[in-house]
Amino acid sequence: MADEFVPEIAFSDYEDQKRINVLKAKFFEIFSSDPEYYCRAPGRVNLIGEHIDYCGYGVLPMAIDQDILIAASKNGSSKLKLYNLNDKYGAQEVECSSFEIDKASPKWYHYFLCGYKGVIEKLNAKKNCKLFGLNVLVDGSVPPCAGLSSSSALVCASSLATMMPSGCKFTKLEMAELCQHCEKYIGTEGGGMDQSISFLAQKGKAKYVEFNPIRGTDVQIPLGGSFVIANCCVEMNKAATDHFNIRVAECRLAAQVLANQINLNWRDVKRLVDVQNLLNLSLEKCLKLVERHFHITEYSKEEICAALRVTEQELDEISLGPRSRHVKTFKLRQRAEHVYSESLRVLNFKDVCNKFSSSLSGNTKDSEGDVQIDASATLKRLGDLMNLSHRSCRDDYECSCKELDDLVHHSTSSGSLGCRLTGAGWGGCCVSLVEDDQLDDFIAKMKNYYKQKGFSDSVIEMSLFVSNPGQGAAIILNK
Ligand code: GLA
Repeated sequence: MADEFVPEIAFSDYEDQKRINVLKAKFFEIFSSDPEYYCRAPGRVNLIGEHIDYCGYGVLPMAIDQDILIAASKNGSSKLKLYNLNDKYGAQEVECSSFEIDKASPKWYHYFLCGYKGVIEKLNAKKNCKLFGLNVLVDGSVPPCAGLSSSSALVCASSLATMMPSGCKFTKLEMAELCQHCEKYIGTEGGGMDQSISFLAQKGKAKYVEFNPIRGTDVQIPLGGSFVIANCCVEMNKAATDHFNIRVAECRLAAQVLANQINLNWRDVKRLVDVQNLLNLSLEKCLKLVERHFHITEYSKEEICAALRVTEQELDEISLGPRSRHVKTFKLRQRAEHVYSESLRVLNFKDVCNKFSSSLSGNTKDSEGDVQIDASATLKRLGDLMNLSHRSCRDDYECSCKELDDLVHHSTSSGSLGCRLTGAGWGGCCVSLVEDDQLDDFIAKMKNYYKQKGFSDSVIEMSLFVSNPGQGAAIILNK
């Protein structure tokens, strides 16, 4: 349950003993002592509901098995000594009281620092907390910059690694809220999906995650289908580019311009969900409003300022962020259309899954008695929703790229029921829904595609895998 504390497990219960022992040995080699504790936080794959969490809408992710695993100890100094098992990521030592989190060109350890800073601030809000130094060794198995949330997993694991020696305990929900907030120190305005699923996930279940406040409801994916993740191998680091924050700003502007058009006080509005709530409308009706009130062509900054009766400087302060102030034109209709229609697809996806589960437990009845819902037809319906979602991301939200679109296309022509980009996009992974009896054939065809593109066997191994819903974050103790 979400109001539980993050679980503590014994070292011997960690699933991958080889991996954790390698980490332990390397920690000893670097710091000449054993780690006092370990923390893990998983990455995630979002099944449906892209770029809508920061607009206030629910999403449907599941945790993957790949995670960030941290070995740590208090070191009695005022320094954070941050090492990574992968030599590619250089070591760094910083003073606990005076580090900077570089927003312009973030490095791996800046994500650790986000978690550290977030927890220390939270502890300070409770009681005065003396800063403490840590020895830290990080090992990541989540492919980086692939849309599987490696950076949020690092923030979640680092906040656990900081919370542990403080003696304080927070619930999974508190940790998720805290990490959603503190990842913003790196400069991206994410919506909270990644951190929520990393803490709330339970093995075997996807989650419908809602926000403000964060809530998670189990969703049972119908039996007979599997999710396959495939990486197009174009890396996208959302903190290092402006794409992500520009979309967040476009959604905010779309909400405010729409509110203004229909005579609401636009200054009360920050997200597209606010417009829906203020008017108490269905998502279908919101889509009609978008069609009626927005033109298809781009909006210039001057046009938006004139409509909202503000100067450019005021608009910069109220509606734009440091990474979107330079933008001169905005696509409002397309972004709003994506957000409202994607939110509707999430609800449909969840309902289709729930109906199937109820039919299995004999809870779906009509006048004739129990209604048997066909598993294949159910999976097909989910696949259709995923295909529609990808089209909307590609055409209206413009958060895909050619390599990813090609891979999605290849997935559907290799027999998947549906396929869509997952995560922020502009590169990274897609997720395909495949019927279990088609799985081997599908994987073989996808492997061929990678081979034709010239990828080596080891890259293919890392880039293409079946994923089942994994377990959420945990603390691992030397007991
Ligand atoms: C990133 C953000 C999430 C979400 C997705 C897009 O992963 O961190 O909050 O916005 O992109 O759905």
